[in-house]
Amino acid sequence: MTDAVTADSALPLRPGRATAVAPANIAFIKYWGATDLARAVPVNPSISMTLSECVSRTTVEFDPAAAGDDEVWIGRAGETGDWRDPGASFSRRVRTHLAELRRRLGVEVGSGRFQVVTENSFPAAAGMASSASGFSALAVAVAAALGASPSSTELSALARCSGSGSAARSVMGGYVEWPAPGEADHDSSDPRAVQLFPADHWRLSDVIAVVETGPKEVSSLEGHTRAPSSPYFEHRLGELHRRLEAVRRGLVERDFQRLGQAVEEEAIDLHLIAMSSRPPVYYWVPATLAVLAAVRALRADGIAAWSTMDAGANVHVITTPEHETAVAEALAAVDGVHTVIRDRVGAGPTVEVEAAEVAG
Ligand code: DP6
Repeated sequence: MTDAVTADSALPLRPGRATAVAPANIAFIKYWGATDLARAVPVNPSISMTLSECVSRTTVEFDPAAAGDDEVWIGRAGETGDWRDPGASFSRRVRTHLAELRRRLGVEVGSGRFQVVTENSFPAAAGMASSASGFSALAVAVAAALGASPSSTELSALARCSGSGSAARSVMGGYVEWPAPGEADHDSSDPRAVQLFPADHWRLSDVIAVVETGPKEVSSLEGHTRAPSSPYFEHRLGELHRRLEAVRRGLVERDFQRLGQAVEEEAIDLHLIAMSSRPPVYYWVPATLAVLAAVRALRADGIAAWSTMDAGANVHVITTPEHETAVAEALAAVDGVHTVIRDRVGAGPTVEVEAAEVAG
């Protein structure tokens, strides 16, 4: 399979400046462990729900005549127009991604200059993962600014090409599967995500209990590296076929009990692996356990709610729209919960292109 995406000369607008809004996603089956970390090639397939409220908004301008380093600016949530230098490590990650996008979209290395400005709808201090939404917004905006029109499958490869695997799933809406190499239908060494169902197939909600507001101590990248050292790593892989089937069937049949049970089991396994890796990674804080207990109590009261956590302490509670308010109120009352974010399944990224001014 080729990496290249060709520019579409039939685009109605001249390429120039594009703004993409791309959502975060919550994994039902997690990407945890890679065969090639730099290219984010996963050991196992993952399945996620694309969100709608937690988004990154990224504007990209490409000046083919300019020289020098690409410029990167970051905004604060809710304070549009207040741009700042994001610091060396963030800029380096974005520039690495831009270099890879140049290569894949056929822009000569070192030619022209990108200016990137990006902001998240959710407060950075809420400890929410922003790389999935951030890198998919960047890929969508860069492709549009260059006048390329990749398919969503090609965008999936462009979004994760600098190493944030979960970004591969944020380029499409609804329920998304990102296969692992070597599966029956997905032999490519560069697997791309596919949409299982659009958002209107099943309107599920994700109520997020934010219990940690700082950045996590151990990155996902480091977690992926350590994962195979856990004695539970292989065990989980043995369970995965059954669990993937439960999630797929739960989605097909809109069977919330089947889906939720598999999703919660999977999240606990991810954290068991993290805690038993060598050296161990503890993402949970005491309030994480308190939220998990509150979710079990909600279920005992007949409320449809199941928990999941990514590589962090915050708990995503998957529920139905009719139970969203009850869940949000119960989570807000748990000791140690700073904020509750109410999100739901969404339709995927949007992009707007402004034509570049024609010189002369
Ligand atoms: C636990 O390597 O995509 O969220 O780039 O930090 O988002 P970031 O991490 P990435 O790993 C994601 C790990 C996960 C599970 C998942 O989203 O599948």
